[in-house]
Amino acid sequence: MAEHKLRPAPGSESKDSISANFKTLNRRQFLTYGFGAAAGVLAASVGALGFASLLMPGGGGSGGDTEVKYWAKGREDTAWYGAMHLQGMKKSDFVAEAEKSATGMSGAQGVWNGLPVNVTFVPHSANAGTPLVSNKPRFQLLEGYDATGKYIGHFEDMVDMDARIMPSDDIIMVFSRCPHLCCIPGWQLVDNSSTEDSWASGGGDGGGSKLFCICHSSRFDPTALEANTNRNRSNGSTFTYAGIRRTGGPAPVGLPIIPVAINADAIEGIPDYLDWLTYCD
Ligand code: FES
Repeated sequence: MAEHKLRPAPGSESKDSISANFKTLNRRQFLTYGFGAAAGVLAASVGALGFASLLMPGGGGSGGDTEVKYWAKGREDTAWYGAMHLQGMKKSDFVAEAEKSATGMSGAQGVWNGLPVNVTFVPHSANAGTPLVSNKPRFQLLEGYDATGKYIGHFEDMVDMDARIMPSDDIIMVFSRCPHLCCIPGWQLVDNSSTEDSWASGGGDGGGSKLFCICHSSRFDPTALEANTNRNRSNGSTFTYAGIRRTGGPAPVGLPIIPVAINADAIEGIPDYLDWLTYCD
């Protein structure tokens, strides 16, 4: 499949199919799905009590449901955010870490409303107006195809319908459950060519700076934004989502975006797109 086909004219297969699949969950459903989604792997690593404490971040203090927190369990000594485990994510932390990188990117694992997430800083605003060369990352708005190769729609069509899915302030957050078997992919969890500090354009499998799933080596490019489809694990319905591209490995599709807003340097999730998180039990 070519990575850069021309964008087709909007038609029944793009916008109409996307809008027909837009759904939302109410808060009760969200907490149900949220608990179920995160419980599968997080509970195994932190225990039920530890996991339960994540469901209501803030504990009555500041931050509330929207705040995204660092998750460095087991990597306190190796991850750059290891000393900030369960502290609120700040954009300035990512910017400072990115300055040490060849690509100007940085990433961290996190937890948001009990859900595992990955947050990546991409120097889009600095690079978007520059020539498209290696190691000058920016967000790329691409066509999306489902697991069978069927054209789903263009990410730009989704942005036209709701601009909030376009990552704001150079920060992108994705739900971090692997569409293969629901493990938790992460930023630089391992040291290999897929996770090294490099970047290549096109949303392909070359270059590094991928989110990597250590279970069976699926790779995801947090700069390659596309439309895609997946299935609700509970009721079998298909839904369309805005996500980042799966570039390699057994995962059939990419990871869904959770829109964020920056509030006085704090990274906060916008809980409007919860149907995109229902593909794991
Ligand atoms: S669960 Fe991620 S590659 Fe298998």
